[in-house]
Amino acid sequence: MSTSNQMHRPDFGVWEKYFDANLERQARLDARIPWATPSHLPPADVVAIARSLQRFELGESGEGEGLRSKARRLNDAAYDRALVRFVAEEQKHSALFAGVLARFGAERLTSHWSDAVFVVLRRLLGLRTEVTLFLIAETTAMEYFGALGRSSDPVIEGVARRVLTDEVEHVRFQIDQLRAGFARTPQVGRMLAAGAAWVVAVGAATVLAVDHGAAMRALGLHPAVFWRRALAQFGRAVPEAFGLGPAAPFGPSVTLHEYAEAAAEGGQAPGR
Ligand SMILES: [Fe+2]
Ligand SMILES: [Fe+2]
Repeated sequence: MSTSNQMHRPDFGVWEKYFDANLERQARLDARIPWATPSHLPPADVVAIARSLQRFELGESGEGEGLRSKARRLNDAAYDRALVRFVAEEQKHSALFAGVLARFGAERLTSHWSDAVFVVLRRLLGLRTEVTLFLIAETTAMEYFGALGRSSDPVIEGVARRVLTDEVEHVRFQIDQLRAGFARTPQVGRMLAAGAAWVVAVGAATVLAVDHGAAMRALGLHPAVFWRRALAQFGRAVPEAFGLGPAAPFGPSVTLHEYAEAAAEGGQAPGR
């Protein structure tokens, strides 16, 4: 059934297919995480990193109900199905971080103020704002996950690399939805939305740098360097997401064809 809402939307079926194809890559990367290897990290680093991962474990554990109920109003069944798969990927990230916490004997959090703020903001606002908040969270966290991926602890390294491969495509997924969602908004409206997003992104990067600063230092990433690079990542996504500049083609950055080839060779699907 076609509605006027749907008329100008690109086909999110490619995203649904991508998320399904990604299950295989995830399984391959998960199998490589050496959970039983002992850790040689200094205890102070373990405490700092565990405190930080507690927050990510909580933050990525949501059911995505708010996001999905707002998205249903678009009457885009393929986007709905892609969103269900996106939320499932985030829940798997949460489970991986829970595995790292268990490895270090750290508890899982039941609440944290930064997560509560993120949840309240998302509930207050519409789908485009909610997706913008995901774009901000994912682009700014990327630099930190990169640092985790360079950890000398093989489990942290393995988990972070696995999560990062997903997040690269999550950013593309949010950009595609935002570009479609803003397609009929006049340029001044898109500029205002981008400006508001910048304000939130600066706040989010600052909270991350302060709140996760000890973990960043333990990983050899200075919080100020993180802050600058995190906002540069976000800045690169802005023209594409808000229709203020050229965009990469719609869909994931790796094609399903590339996936199939990499799987046949038993290797890792190509990144960006
Ligand atoms: Fe995630
Ligand atoms: Fe994500």
